[in-house]
Amino acid sequence: MRIDIISPLPELLKAPFSTSILKRAIDKKVVEVCIHDLRSFANNKHKKIDDYSYGGGGGMVLMIEPVAKCIELLKSKRTYDTTIFVTPDGQKLNQKKSNSLSQLNNIIIICGRYEGIDQRVRDLFIDQEISIGDYVLMGGELPALVICESIIRLLPGSMNNSSCALSDSFQDNLLAPPIYTRPANFKGHKVPDILLSGNEKKISQWREDQSIIKTKERRPELLK
Ligand code: ADE
Repeated sequence: MRIDIISPLPELLKAPFSTSILKRAIDKKVVEVCIHDLRSFANNKHKKIDDYSYGGGGGMVLMIEPVAKCIELLKSKRTYDTTIFVTPDGQKLNQKKSNSLSQLNNIIIICGRYEGIDQRVRDLFIDQEISIGDYVLMGGELPALVICESIIRLLPGSMNNSSCALSDSFQDNLLAPPIYTRPANFKGHKVPDILLSGNEKKISQWREDQSIIKTKERRPELLK
C-alpha cells in the first residue's frame, strides 16, 4: 500500500512515522508513506498557499492551485483508489471504514489548515471526506495520522501478532475484554482465576462474556 499525504505543515507528520510500529511497517515495505509539502507547489515567490475568503468573513482559505498541482503530479504517476480530505464535517471514522481503506493500494490524504479549503478542491478532487470526531482541531495533520495508524496496523506484516488486530475493540462490534499480565497478584488485586487455569475453551468463553458485559455497560448501541 502507498499513502501520499499532502500538507501545509509536513513537519507535524514526520515524527510518528519515524518510531515504533509505523516505522517498522515502512522499513519492512508493508507500506510506503510519502509526505508532500503543499508550500513547495505554490506558484509565487513567497510560497503563499492561502488567501482571503471571497465574500468576506474572517480567516484565510487554502488555495486550489497548489493542491491541484500536487494531486495532478501524483495522478500522472500512478492510479489512486481514493482521495480523502480530512475535515470535521466529514463522515466519522470507524473501524469498518479503516478496514475498507486498508484493502486499497494507493491513497491520497489532503490535510487542511486555516479557516478551510477552497470548495472547488472538494468538488473536483475529493472522493471522500473523513472526520475523526465531533471536535475541531487546528488542521488535518493529526486526523491524517489517526487514519494512517488505524489502517497501517491492519496490514499483514505490520504487527508481530497478526491475530492481534482481529481481537480489537469494534472488529466484531464488541469492546475488547480486560487483559492482564504479571504479577498474578498485585498487592492483593488478583488476576481472575480462569485466566490462570490453562483451559482455553473456558478462557475464550470468559473473554466473550466480558466483552458483552463491557459493551452493554459502555456502548449499548453497538449491540443493536
Ligand atoms: N480538521 C480539524 N478538525 C478535524 C476533525 N475533527 N476531523 C478531521 N479533520 C479535522
